[in-house]
Amino acid sequence: MNDQAKTLRELRKTMPLQQVLSGQTRVMSITSGKGGVGKTHTVINLAIALSDLGRRVLVLDGDMSLANADVLLGINTPYTLRHVLEGEKSLSEIIVDTPFGVSLIPGASGVESLLDLTAQELEVLKNEIEEVAADYDYLIIDTPAGIGQEVMYFNAASGEVICIINNEPTSLTDAYALLKLLSKRHGEKEVSVLVNNTSSDKEAQHAFQRLSAVASQYLHIHLKFLGSIPADSSVLAAIQDRRPVISEFPTSKASRALSQVAVNIDEDFYKYRVKGGMQFFFQQLITEGAYGG
Ligand SMILES: Nc1ncnc2c1ncn2[C@@H]1O[C@H](COP(=O)(O)OP(=O)(O)O)[C@@H](O)[C@H]1O
Ligand SMILES: [Mg+2]
Repeated sequence: MNDQAKTLRELRKTMPLQQVLSGQTRVMSITSGKGGVGKTHTVINLAIALSDLGRRVLVLDGDMSLANADVLLGINTPYTLRHVLEGEKSLSEIIVDTPFGVSLIPGASGVESLLDLTAQELEVLKNEIEEVAADYDYLIIDTPAGIGQEVMYFNAASGEVICIINNEPTSLTDAYALLKLLSKRHGEKEVSVLVNNTSSDKEAQHAFQRLSAVASQYLHIHLKFLGSIPADSSVLAAIQDRRPVISEFPTSKASRALSQVAVNIDEDFYKYRVKGGMQFFFQQLITEGAYGG
């Protein structure tokens, strides 16, 4: 074991893990309220774009109802979080190195909720996530749709939340409901917004402004415009091929926009390295026992 790893291990024994993780891994969750707005596609492609910038990136497929990050990456995963939750495998044993430079913790569709685990089981999972995430610069979490408690906890877990919207009224109302909970229940002060599937920059700005206006009027939350991804038939073609668009069609409009968003995110890399956050989430679950309604 090298000196650094040893020191980290020693530190873990004595320090709250949030402090150990902070400075190591930037934890981001990608969320939306409404389903089908492009979360999974964005998670995968942003992860690859960040990896292309030289970062070590781990994706956690946290969608326990419809885990499909593996499908978009075109890989078969023999083991998933289900095996971890059932005690058959450790987390490090299920991580898959994809051909695209990013690693994946495959999600488990249709398993019992993380929140149904006992405090002891959560403690084990928490330790394992922290252990594996410490080897990466970014941990990007794909969350399920909706505003259920699991989504909220993944969001609360993350140092940063990126909310994906499109210009449809239902996307905006669902995003608002999510922001409201994040702000009121979790005290979230800032959320980044990415507008997907847009026909023009103007449309993206319009969607962002509509959400931002109500958020600043009724919630104490600041929305930051992270960028927009155009509607692009290359996205559909890539998904059909089970390949990430950024690898399959790197010069397409959507890929160029995704690469730019990754650059925007990475500009803040050092600022956010001190935030950590995964620990906070799991510790809350453990100390509160059940989650508070
Ligand atoms: N920028 C885009 N251009 C064209 N189609 C898109 C774009 N983003 C998403 N889509 C379409 O939306 C579908 C849902 O995307 P997905 O990432 O699975 O959403 P979510 O994870 O939010 O449910 C994709 O299968 C694709 O058909
Ligand atoms: Mg999805």
